[in-house]
Amino acid sequence: KGDPRLQAISNAIRVVPHFPKQGIMFQDITTLLLDHKAFKHTVDIFVDRYKDMDISVVAGVEARGFMFGTAIALAIGAKFVPLRKPKKLPGEVIAEAYELEYGSDSLEMHVGAVEAGERAIVIDDLVATGGTLSAAIRLLERVGAQVVECGCVIGLREVKGQRRLNGKPLYILVEPR
Ligand code: PRP
Repeated sequence: KGDPRLQAISNAIRVVPHFPKQGIMFQDITTLLLDHKAFKHTVDIFVDRYKDMDISVVAGVEARGFMFGTAIALAIGAKFVPLRKPKKLPGEVIAEAYELEYGSDSLEMHVGAVEAGERAIVIDDLVATGGTLSAAIRLLERVGAQVVECGCVIGLREVKGQRRLNGKPLYILVEPR
């Protein structure tokens, strides 16, 4: 909405056609990470939005949600909680499955990482079907946390239009090019 930083962020994301397979326009955020100004703009926009919302938990989705989520957590003074692919976390976990184009996958979270009543945001690089973020929301809600919003760098126009996921607000910076 007229914020020139959004154009810089969009420009810094490389689009790789036919990766990882034919027909997919892969949104590569590694080039955004290489551009320190655009990367900082990205983190700053989320930090400005969430810093005064009494957020105590930033949950990041493996793997690319970690790259933005940790920076946001440090800046707003919240804990960072990694939501990981199966069998990566050593402690006791809870899991939520989500559907993929072929088959399914799941996300896990350490029991005890988040307490009931905590106010959380979920961060990822990209939302496509929303299946991954929905699983993340369910994990946090199972332990009694309040999911205030999901924040993503990139979101499809349709998802951006609906602006909600599992009844939770969805905040997106740019659309895929
Ligand atoms: C990608 C992306 C999101 C998810 C979005 O992750 O980083 O986490 O897909 O898709 P959805 O909205 O349709 O659920 P990927 O599964 O490629 O994992 P990675 O980040 O570990 O490579």
